[in-house]
Amino acid sequence: MPEPDRFLEDVLAGLRGEQKTLPCKYLYDARGSLLFEEICELDEYYPTRTEFDIMESSVADMAGHLGESVLLIEYGSGSSRKTRLLLDAMRAPAGYVPIDISGEILEESASAIVQRYPGLEVFPICADYLMPLQIPKLAKSVSRSVVYFPGSTIGNFRPEEALEFLNRVAHLIGEGGGLLIGVDLRKEPDVLRRAYDDSNGVTAAFNRNLLTRINRELAGEFPEEAFRHESFWNKDHGRIEMHLVCETACRVAVGAEFISFSAGESIVTEYAYKYEVGEFQSLASKAGFTPQAVWTDPEEKFSVHYFNVRQSHL
Ligand code: AVJ
Repeated sequence: MPEPDRFLEDVLAGLRGEQKTLPCKYLYDARGSLLFEEICELDEYYPTRTEFDIMESSVADMAGHLGESVLLIEYGSGSSRKTRLLLDAMRAPAGYVPIDISGEILEESASAIVQRYPGLEVFPICADYLMPLQIPKLAKSVSRSVVYFPGSTIGNFRPEEALEFLNRVAHLIGEGGGLLIGVDLRKEPDVLRRAYDDSNGVTAAFNRNLLTRINRELAGEFPEEAFRHESFWNKDHGRIEMHLVCETACRVAVGAEFISFSAGESIVTEYAYKYEVGEFQSLASKAGFTPQAVWTDPEEKFSVHYFNVRQSHL
């Protein structure tokens, strides 16, 4: 299905449900990606900074676990600052495969990497994380494939989706493969909530931009001012929920359909699950991974895990 049709189908499918939802991957159009980069600079949004600090202090140890002549596959490469730290520390990396849903960001970061590492074979792939993919064949010999999945983006999946994703990764990289993954940790609800509802309103703008995008790309007629950003910690599910709440009842045209909202009704736009270290390790174990190492910051706000694909799992 061509991209715009897919977008329309996904939007309508999400809005027809009892609890309305929109897939969070659509938050990242050009403006959304810029707003997300702005979020990463906020004091209240601790994950990016904290993960970077963990990488900075432990990257040599991480690179030791990865070994030499590795093919590094990165999901959601974004601005790839952390990747540069990793590639600098790795011994003779063989290749780099950045995967991102945003074409522009992918091009930029891939060409920056090509310039910085002249000998490295780089194969950018513009895709959704859940799309099946094949590992490209390199000219150089490769000791193992390692998936790098930073940013705690795994937290955007429900646990069962996270499990499915991890299973796919295990099959993709096969026996001997590795997974280096950033996972945000559970902490005081107030700190979590502020990270997703900052005082400058950047997260609110990021969330509401999804309606702007629907209006522009799908000829939607959302009254944008009627929708307010809301984020809260859902203790029972161990997740932050990001919603767009409709303040007044309305009927909205999207494509050939009308969607009705009652006053106060919301659309879920993103979940961000937070894990305990052991909880994430047991999830990954179910997908065939064996924990090798985990690094955290002194305050234990964020974690970076390294796993190997368990022998004979596949
Ligand atoms: C990079 C997708 C993991 O869930 O924390 C930031 C996205 N959403 N603020 C996250 C996000 C709202 C971010 N991820």
